[in-house]
Amino acid sequence: MHCRQLPLTLLVLMFISTSETCTLRKRISAVEGEPFYLKYCPSSSEHENEPTTRKWYKSSGSQGRVELNSSSSPRITLHDYVLEFWPVELDDSGFYFFQMGNSIHNWTLNVIRRTKHSCFAEEQLFSKTVEVKKTLQINCTNNYYEKLAIGTSLYKNCEKIENNKSSFLQKNAEFEDQGYYTCMFFLYHNGKLFNVTKTFNVTIVGDHSYVIPVLLGPQLNHVRVELGKDVQLNCSALLNEKDVLYWNIWENNGKDPNVHEEEERKIRTSEGKWQASRILRIDNINENNLHFSYNCTVAGKEGIDTRSFILLKKEDPVDIPGHIFTRGMIIAVLISVVVVCLVIVGIIYRVDLALFYRHFMGRDETLTGNKYHNPGISYPMVLLRNVIKKH
Ligand SMILES: *[C@@H]1O[C@H](CO)[C@@H](O)[C@H](O)[C@H]1NC(C)=O
Ligand SMILES: *[C@@H]1O[C@H](CO)[C@@H](O)[C@H](O)[C@H]1NC(C)=O
Ligand SMILES: *[C@@H]1O[C@H](CO)[C@@H](O)[C@H](O)[C@H]1NC(C)=O
Ligand SMILES: *[C@@H]1O[C@H](CO)[C@@H](O)[C@H](O)[C@H]1NC(C)=O
Ligand SMILES: *[C@@H]1O[C@H](CO)[C@@H](O)[C@H](O)[C@H]1NC(C)=O
Ligand SMILES: *[C@@H]1O[C@H](CO)[C@@H](O)[C@H](O)[C@H]1NC(C)=O
Ligand SMILES: *[C@@H]1O[C@H](CO)[C@@H](O)[C@H](O)[C@H]1NC(C)=O
Ligand SMILES: *[C@@H]1O[C@H](CO)[C@@H](O)[C@H](O)[C@H]1NC(C)=O
Repeated sequence: MHCRQLPLTLLVLMFISTSETCTLRKRISAVEGEPFYLKYCPSSSEHENEPTTRKWYKSSGSQGRVELNSSSSPRITLHDYVLEFWPVELDDSGFYFFQMGNSIHNWTLNVIRRTKHSCFAEEQLFSKTVEVKKTLQINCTNNYYEKLAIGTSLYKNCEKIENNKSSFLQKNAEFEDQGYYTCMFFLYHNGKLFNVTKTFNVTIVGDHSYVIPVLLGPQLNHVRVELGKDVQLNCSALLNEKDVLYWNIWENNGKDPNVHEEEERKIRTSEGKWQASRILRIDNINENNLHFSYNCTVAGKEGIDTRSFILLKKEDPVDIPGHIFTRGMIIAVLISVVVVCLVIVGIIYRVDLALFYRHFMGRDETLTGNKYHNPGISYPMVLLRNVIKKH
């Protein structure tokens, strides 16, 4: 090893860069078909020491420990502290040992099957959670293979992202950005093209600001029902993730057996808020269910809100709501005004009306002869008398 000849500072630098890429974890997963490596992390004292013999062994299943060398498999290369696979395959799973002098280090390697019709393995994901509207950044880096890579591509849900920087993505997170982002490094080895993947499972979460929970719809709901039928009362709310939505269905003498509260259904709106709904199902409605106030409540640390639902028989009258009452009053007043106007017009044109009337009812003897000569009977009275007579 050449580092012994290097000045100390360079040695330290080299040690740092070495430890960045070495395999610290004891249990490792790799994806079949991809280049893969195991690298022992030498301590600084081991660096300085006389080079000792380094050996790699593998053991799997019933097989004992077998020494690995470059002729063990065309897919294996060994150098310094590194064992490389070009590529790693399913039967490479097992225990690996690195021996240097008297010390032995071991790893457990589990090679996982590539997911069919997918560009990544579901068992080999890096989770990343980003708040909506915050920065989503995907930076494709691979300290070990990057230097060898002839190209890098970024895929979202296995579809290539076309952008200028093929290995870097930065944007304000939206819910649509959720998905699997795969960095793919392409590299050549012995004239063969390989790719190494690194996939992030990106989850976009809503912002953490709280809303005051509120139920949708009017405060009081009258629902017309028929006895013996079923009804579903739907209660929906805008709320926070941890708020609760429930029906108060307990009467003094317990819950009616035909009243069922269904599961809450919660969805996330595009703004990252939560909307929930919960159905109260009443089967085979009976008299007990009528005129009872079924209340739905949403409760959270920001507040509480309630809506009432009352079942009424189809034919039961309901109290006239305020706005309908007002409308009725206006119509009544208008009709009165019209009637008064008609009466006034009638008084003003009473003579013409009388003539008009006589024209039609020419044979009415009460008006013959003495019409204007009877001082005791005013004309309206005559009209009135006629009306009474006719009915
Ligand atoms: C990456 O490598 C795998 C295994 O060799 C291969 O099946 C896949 O097609 C490659 N993907 C690309 C985009 O070249
Ligand atoms: C390499 O290992 C195999 C057994 O795995 C052994 O038969 C062979 O002699 C070894 N070759 C060298 C050069 O050590
Ligand atoms: C691997 O090393 C650990 C100690 O680092 C030891 O406890 C374990 O038994 C070893 N595993 C095998 C399979 O030798
Ligand atoms: C990706 O992350 C989401 C959210 O954490 C999780 O529900 C999902 O199961 C993950 N996907 C895989 C394939 O593990
Ligand atoms: C990507 O990450 C690497 C290493 O973490 C860093 O050096 C590089 O500047 C990052 N790229 C961008 C565009 O931020
Ligand atoms: C790459 O960037 C250049 C200039 O910044 C721009 O003109 C070009 O359209 C970009 N290409 C893509 C594929 O985004
Ligand atoms: C209940 O109402 C909510 C909001 O209006 C709606 O999203 C949901 O689908 C309704 N549920 C049923 C079972 O109709
Ligand atoms: C529902 O609310 C109303 C008014 O707030 C109340 O009078 C009634 O007792 C409540 N019903 C139940 C079952 O809690």
